[in-house]
Amino acid sequence: MRVLVIGSGAREHALLLALSRDPQVTGLIVAPGNAGTGRLADQYQVDITSADEVIALARKVEADLVVIGPEVPLVLGVADALRGAGFVCFGPGKDAARIEGSKAFAKDVMAAAGVRTATSEIVDNPAHLDAALERFGPPAGDPAWVVKDDSLAAGKGVVVTADRDAARSHAAGLLESGHPVLLESFLDGPEVSLFCVVDGSTVVPLLAAQDFKRVGDGDAGPNTGGMGAYAPVPWLPDDIYQGIVSRIVEPVAAELVQRGSPFCGLLYAGLAITSNGPAVVEFNCRFGDPETQAVLALLESPIGQLLYAAGTGALAEFDQLQWRDGAAVTVVLAAENYPGRPRVGDVITGSETEGVLHAGTARRDDGAIVSSGGRVVSVVGTGSDLAEARQRAYEILSSIRLPGGHFRTDIGQRAAEGKITI
Ligand code: GLY
Repeated sequence: MRVLVIGSGAREHALLLALSRDPQVTGLIVAPGNAGTGRLADQYQVDITSADEVIALARKVEADLVVIGPEVPLVLGVADALRGAGFVCFGPGKDAARIEGSKAFAKDVMAAAGVRTATSEIVDNPAHLDAALERFGPPAGDPAWVVKDDSLAAGKGVVVTADRDAARSHAAGLLESGHPVLLESFLDGPEVSLFCVVDGSTVVPLLAAQDFKRVGDGDAGPNTGGMGAYAPVPWLPDDIYQGIVSRIVEPVAAELVQRGSPFCGLLYAGLAITSNGPAVVEFNCRFGDPETQAVLALLESPIGQLLYAAGTGALAEFDQLQWRDGAAVTVVLAAENYPGRPRVGDVITGSETEGVLHAGTARRDDGAIVSSGGRVVSVVGTGSDLAEARQRAYEILSSIRLPGGHFRTDIGQRAAEGKITI
């Protein structure tokens, strides 16, 4: 099987690495890829938001399966176009991808499916902002305001703050740039990401993971696209995990079938485990980054065959997933100034080694690897438990040099020390 992976992040590098372990995968192609993925796959530069360009590449490389990593081509309908051209594709069509692309749609689907989520309100008129802020946040009983960009913002459009001025200023800035604002009630409790492979009606859950969205240790500073993750989640009881699948993900998948837009791809439930049980923070329509890097490091089942089964509606016949014992930890090395505008063009050394997955990297004409984005590489450590996986990840990280680079030192630490309770 020849597999074309669309995307350029560490998530796609992790997918390629996992695919390379599948004995039925005979060829790997990536577009556009990065400086690290060229060792695993043939690379092509195409505009991944252009269905015509992606279809032309899939034809040229004779892809048997196309796996779309990022949300933007999915929301634009590239998966529909590929299926229309006769390709097997892992990734939802435009209608189902609205579960991530439109928060209003996601809320509507969740309400119809009876799934618990934060209460919310969309504000698109600055004149209504102050009154709406009064209905959320501390005066209304919540410990903080949750202000989101109601459009795709790669995780960076979210501000959670107990400071009303900061909440107002973020919301007003979004409105000024023409982006509607989503105000949500605050969900207490630790967060979990659960990725499910879905072929319409059959839902196959992967290991649960936790990611770290804030830039600094102890969850300080602004939100990012994700600074690290670990899997599995030792503090999540199995009955809650099973309940998330049966009472949240399966009803949402069934609701999408009912609406005539079945979801085929990776349905990502981001949840808060509150004192009243799990509640959905968000759904995404693709593998999460950086959780994928940790989750796939533990997957023993052949992922090419799994994603092909999802793309062809045959998940119900797929064998139960097999996982490696132990744990995996991912730590992201970010460029100077990230999550603000990152400095790029710095030479990075020590990154061409096992356990390092590339994201914002490019190869210069002289062969040097340089930073080209905010999250530069993800380092993945595995071990018999979280403590050992953490130790391994930070050991690998210590041999990488990136001027101005920064990372969190506490990824998975509280879980490893048994300090997370629900
Ligand atoms: N880990 C957050 C995301 O992928 O959106």
